[in-house]
Amino acid sequence: MFDIIIKNIGSLITAQGTNSLSGKNQGKVQVYSDVSIGIKNGLIEYIGEAPTEKAKKTINANGALVTPGLIDCHTHFIYGGSREEEMYNIITGHMSYSEIIKSGYGILSTVNDTREQTENTLYKKSIPILDSMLRHGTTTVEGKSGYGLTLKDEIKILNVMKKLNDNHKISIISTFMGGHVIPNEYKNDRSAYIDLICNEMIPEISKLGLAEFCDVFCEDCGLNMEETDTVLTAAQKYNMGIKVHSDQLETSGGSYLAARFNAISAEHLIMADDMSIQTIKKQGVIAVLLPNASFYLGMPYARARYMVECGIPIAIATDYNPGSSPTLNMQFIMKLAYIIYRLNPEEILNAVTINAACALNRGKEIGTIEIGKKADIVVWNSKSLHFLLYTLDNNLCNMVFKSGELVYSKSEV
Ligand code: NIG
Ligand code: FE
Repeated sequence: MFDIIIKNIGSLITAQGTNSLSGKNQGKVQVYSDVSIGIKNGLIEYIGEAPTEKAKKTINANGALVTPGLIDCHTHFIYGGSREEEMYNIITGHMSYSEIIKSGYGILSTVNDTREQTENTLYKKSIPILDSMLRHGTTTVEGKSGYGLTLKDEIKILNVMKKLNDNHKISIISTFMGGHVIPNEYKNDRSAYIDLICNEMIPEISKLGLAEFCDVFCEDCGLNMEETDTVLTAAQKYNMGIKVHSDQLETSGGSYLAARFNAISAEHLIMADDMSIQTIKKQGVIAVLLPNASFYLGMPYARARYMVECGIPIAIATDYNPGSSPTLNMQFIMKLAYIIYRLNPEEILNAVTINAACALNRGKEIGTIEIGKKADIVVWNSKSLHFLLYTLDNNLCNMVFKSGELVYSKSEV
């Protein structure tokens, strides 16, 4: 007996397998028409014609499109305060994003606001954010620390993520990002802050098991190449997976470090030149592209089509944060990627499902609808993937299943 059967699925579209997809396979999907999915113990047990086996509950998809749950593989969702005044300054041309950071605001304003919050306040503030992510179809989210920048405050943020992961339906994967920017109190002694990251933060966070990955903002206004190299060396020593924020605001060299450290992903890549792109390609690094950070800051867009043609697996995420991308809506991001990157709908679907899963080292458990994988599934208020990406209106999620449980439904079922 199944726990749940989802019947009358008009079109089920999913990638196959556990590995990231690239080049011609970036958009390779399996399309099933008029099928049902059987779920047991939180896992997908059956895909096919209406099964003869009974279920405790049957849900009618009414001919809709069904896809894997969306995976937002790059966010900074734990933060205090907000930065609408900074947005005003950027829009009216008073200051650029990097000038704001260099003058001690921007990311550093959020650092001040986050330091002032208790663990409990940050926890409570994050629940509606995660609720809204689920309602928009995100079933797994990666979260980066990096708005604490002291041992205590970085641990506070990572603890919040751990507790949220334990108590909220959405799955959260944590990344330590003490190497975000140099905090104001170390601006005249940068190397002392790098020492603090390497000798205290990474060892302690690793001992507490609070972060699976380590990320660094390798940029003129973040950490330089040498500092990034030092931090990644320490992270690797403690067996953290490596991610790099690279080439967002200038050609920073971050991609070379991503390749050298065998990073799982290089993220942003707006200004990545041909050499940087070839270097990550050679090393099998996944490119995590964040179109809203470009849109929002009025920056150029990453060369997504070129990267696909080079054979680099592309993942796409929100970069949800209060400075450069205040949206948690993956549907909007997918539409932006469609219109601006000119990727096709199947390439985008794989970028936010299987490739995003692989960018989080979760390709074996999530990212596709296949027997044995977690039943993280979205039933859309759309008959086709083309329609889903075509309209900018509203939240098109009709139902969201997380580990086999119906966690959001637009109407009574
Ligand atoms: O990925 N660029 C660095 N970090 C974030 C932005 C953080 C912020 O502006 O608060 C990003 O865009
Ligand atoms: Fe980011």
